[in-house]
Amino acid sequence: MRTVEWNYETDKFQMIDQRLLPGSFEIAVYEDYRLVAQAITDMVVRGAPAIGAAAGFGLALAARQSNAQDVPALRADLEAAANHLKQARPTAVNLAWALDRILRATAQIQGNAHQLKGAVLAEAQKIADEDVQINLSIARHGAELIEDGDTIIHHCNTGALATVDWGTALGVIRMAHNQGKRIHVLVDETRPRLQGARLTAWELSQYHIPYDIITDNAAGYFLSTGQVQKVFFGSDRTAANGDVANKIGTYMLALAAHDNQVPRYAVVPTSTIDLALSSGPEIPIEERDSSEVLGLTLLGHQVAPQDASARNPAFDVTPHRLVTGIVTENGVAYPPYKESLKRMVAG
Ligand code: MRU
Repeated sequence: MRTVEWNYETDKFQMIDQRLLPGSFEIAVYEDYRLVAQAITDMVVRGAPAIGAAAGFGLALAARQSNAQDVPALRADLEAAANHLKQARPTAVNLAWALDRILRATAQIQGNAHQLKGAVLAEAQKIADEDVQINLSIARHGAELIEDGDTIIHHCNTGALATVDWGTALGVIRMAHNQGKRIHVLVDETRPRLQGARLTAWELSQYHIPYDIITDNAAGYFLSTGQVQKVFFGSDRTAANGDVANKIGTYMLALAAHDNQVPRYAVVPTSTIDLALSSGPEIPIEERDSSEVLGLTLLGHQVAPQDASARNPAFDVTPHRLVTGIVTENGVAYPPYKESLKRMVAG
């Protein structure tokens, strides 16, 4: 199944509960858009493109839930629901992008409320379907950067689980593997939510791609000892100048790779490029609950002292000077990014 999808038999929205993987595979079912917003905050679903698609289907639920009898009243309900969904997580621009796209695409509908409800679901479905095609295009462009025998460091999870299907950075690796290239992946475990150790490793096992999980701290060792040929990661929001916000730890990884002349590729659908922001410091960075850091246990006991406090930024910004190339569905952008990203977004 897809990571997020509308079930046309039950007329409900469903997604894989990523909090439980790889221990158990469960499908969470939704009828209320507010619960979809909560699920995005709680990371039942995560990964920028998957969040965008989930928010789109959340808006389709909001349309179903509305008792509005006419189009203007339904539109007001939809705008309120979109504003609520937008608050779920701040960094991934795909969330607002998907919601704004649906509101824009349905803005001209004059008929009745029933037609508008149908149009909202149709546009959400279109976003989900396009995501899969976009990822396949990204993968074809990106796979050209990978050579037979490469060892690649990958950060967080950017696979099928982070998208509707196939994936972005991990999708590139998957495509190169399918083309017959022999690849080894070093999987950053990605503290504190362990998207690498839990989700990326789970996906790579299923694709039969050889990998080893490494602690985030080990990346510098592998890079400085000549054991890595490329670094691939995704993005939750990329600014117009090519600064890339991605999972916390990406910046340190890019610094270490740059210091060792190992190429660093960000892999992003153009929906993740926010041309309205001129540079990385303008990107809102989510800070999550300290319990995600302090909750680590060893032998059944919390590792940190009971009264410890912690900081937990979920993302960091890798400055464009550390990014070798940005792979999109329209090709690979190279510096200067101010020009090349505009061209990519224009298609
Ligand atoms: O906090 P998460 O798990 O939602 O963070 C996900 C990432 O940082 C991914 O690298 C990013 O969304 C790109 S996924 C295609």
